[in-house]
Amino acid sequence: MPSTAVYPGSFDPITNGHLSILNRGLEVFDKIIVSILNNPQKKSLFTVEERLEMLKEVLSGKTNVEVDTFDGLLVDYAQGRNCNVILRGIRAMSDFEYEFQMALMNRRLNRDIQSIFLMTDYKWFYISSTIIKEAASFGGDISGLVPEVVCRRLKEKFGHIPLRC
Ligand code: PNS
Repeated sequence: MPSTAVYPGSFDPITNGHLSILNRGLEVFDKIIVSILNNPQKKSLFTVEERLEMLKEVLSGKTNVEVDTFDGLLVDYAQGRNCNVILRGIRAMSDFEYEFQMALMNRRLNRDIQSIFLMTDYKWFYISSTIIKEAASFGGDISGLVPEVVCRRLKEKFGHIPLRC
């Protein structure tokens, strides 16, 4: 049976750091389902539909990647997709505490599902969707940190600011 992992996240928006994890994950798994959490309570810059569009555009060339959305518990979603692996990325130590907590809770909720962590490439160690949005909102240069479509969409969002990317 081909091995499949779910790569969940907010992806608000997808960055080159996410892509690095995904590409590394594809060296380990036959297929990866990239799934966006649909959580109306969480404040986001892009709607789930916009994030889905961006993911689809960025990942269109990859046949072994599926893009999806989910709500509710991640472990329930993964099980519903017949998938027993959750893939997450780790950057610096600061990610560890949150990821550790989430992995332990997910394990308590469903012992059949394993969390697997991959490290992002050192080039993306300092970037996150949040810091990209902050830089972009003030017109900072974010070239080379996000895929082209994300750059375009950020320019549209912060239309009043001359964004360099
Ligand atoms: O990109 P993010 O925001 O760090 O992703 C966090 C995400 C979506 C993986 C996490 O918030 C999640 O899985 N939410 C769904 C609810 C859930 O199952 N939470 C974990 C156990 S309570």
